Amino acid sequence: MTSDAPIGVFDSGVGGISVAKEIARDMPHERIIYFGDSANAPYGVKSPEEVRDLSFAIVERLLHEGAKAIVIACNTATSAAAKTLRDHYDLPIIGMEPALKVACDRGHGASQHIIVAATPLTLRERKFAALMNRFTANHTIYSQPCPDLVTILEHGELDDHATVMAALHRYFARYDFDDIDAVVLGCTHFVFYRDYFRELVPERTAVIDGNAGTVHHLGVVLEALGKLADDDTHGGIELHNSDTSEEMKALSRYLLER
Ligand code: DGL
Repeated sequence: MTSDAPIGVFDSGVGGISVAKEIARDMPHERIIYFGDSANAPYGVKSPEEVRDLSFAIVERLLHEGAKAIVIACNTATSAAAKTLRDHYDLPIIGMEPALKVACDRGHGASQHIIVAATPLTLRERKFAALMNRFTANHTIYSQPCPDLVTILEHGELDDHATVMAALHRYFARYDFDDIDAVVLGCTHFVFYRDYFRELVPERTAVIDGNAGTVHHLGVVLEALGKLADDDTHGGIELHNSDTSEEMKALSRYLLER
């Protein structure tokens, strides 16, 4: 059994395009409908209730487009809304969380020093506390909110080297990177900053994101349900955004092709 219905992917803005791209690379026959809520971004400084309401409205929209599964390409919306969305809808809803386990496993049993960079809301939510609890006994974990990295990307300033490096230095100056084994990019917007993080940290420090794990999980779930697209389906990514300006269209396209 196969299904040529689209996969609905959403984020608070353009960050989740990093996830949509990875889905398209891994599953080239899938049709992806991406919705970025840039008119309401950032989510990471909102209340969980607000993020939940916004997420419900987007899922309704994606269901209207006939989505066979939803990917919440946003750690923040996953923390605030995934559970309630799953209770409410009868279709696969794949969420994201900071890839802390991957970072810990890299040590093969040795205690790791790890920074989790994410939005303030992700780091404050119960879901993250539960994730931390699984690993703090054996590892040292620092949580670092980086809200400006969301707005810099949304404002189309990703290629402004001075602005980005100034923000990174502001957030990370207090760490001794010779003592840090990994930085986890726990926000899909931050994935676009990978090269900047590489510039910031020494070679021995890993920079890890959760995109590949999420896409793998999506593939496993769709296969188990017999809902992968047929090999002759023409896949691709359709971009939508609540900010309908030409600037936002150009930014989304730029990030997709980057
Ligand atoms: N991209 C989102 C995430 O993965 C959040 C960005 C925001 O604060 O809106 O957490």
